[in-house]
Amino acid sequence: MKFHFYAHSTFAVTANDKTILFDPFLTGNPKLEGFDVSTVQCDYILISHAHADHISDCIALAKQTGAQVICAWEVHEWLNKNGVEYTHPMNTGGSWDFIDFKVKCVVAHHSSGLPDGSYGGNPMGFIVWFGEQCFYYAGDTALTIDMSLIPTWAQLDFAVLPIGDNFTMDAKDAARAAQMVKANKVVGIHYDTFGFIEIDENKAKQEFAAHGIECILPEINTSFEI
Ligand code: NI
Ligand code: MN
Repeated sequence: MKFHFYAHSTFAVTANDKTILFDPFLTGNPKLEGFDVSTVQCDYILISHAHADHISDCIALAKQTGAQVICAWEVHEWLNKNGVEYTHPMNTGGSWDFIDFKVKCVVAHHSSGLPDGSYGGNPMGFIVWFGEQCFYYAGDTALTIDMSLIPTWAQLDFAVLPIGDNFTMDAKDAARAAQMVKANKVVGIHYDTFGFIEIDENKAKQEFAAHGIECILPEINTSFEI
């Protein structure tokens, strides 16, 4: 599977010529100055929750790419009102087989207001079965005991976890999360984008290494095989 990290919590995975984009925050992202959004291609867009740093380019990219948007019911209604009709509403606990991939929506302890102030429903994490692999994207969340259920549903190849602290888990809690979900490889995200979430990257990696967990902190706007 190809993993492309844009910045913050925006990433895409590609397998079998299909691409799933997560939480698009490109325009106005301090780490992606001058980025040309018109170059982004994807077949699906998954939205973990409605905060601007996860959804700000969703409407434009859905229209540009024709991708199906998978998100909470309330976000789906908001997208429909804003001219994006190719959506699939879900909620925590639910699974769906999209043929190209399967997803299960799981609990995230966070909040989810839309950029215009309207209610965004529950924030979510996702377990994604795609190509030959399975991974967990936590979205924005605190460390939560709910994560201990994840190994009962899925055997993970890796997990994508926020490590920036202040709004989400820090690296220490994320390392505990990785142990709970039984992932020995983690892609760390949601850090260093703006002032509240600046971290010491080496210290963060050590939190994972202390438990024998590999922590990948990708460079901005780069791809790698995972
Ligand atoms: Ni958030
Ligand atoms: Mn966020």
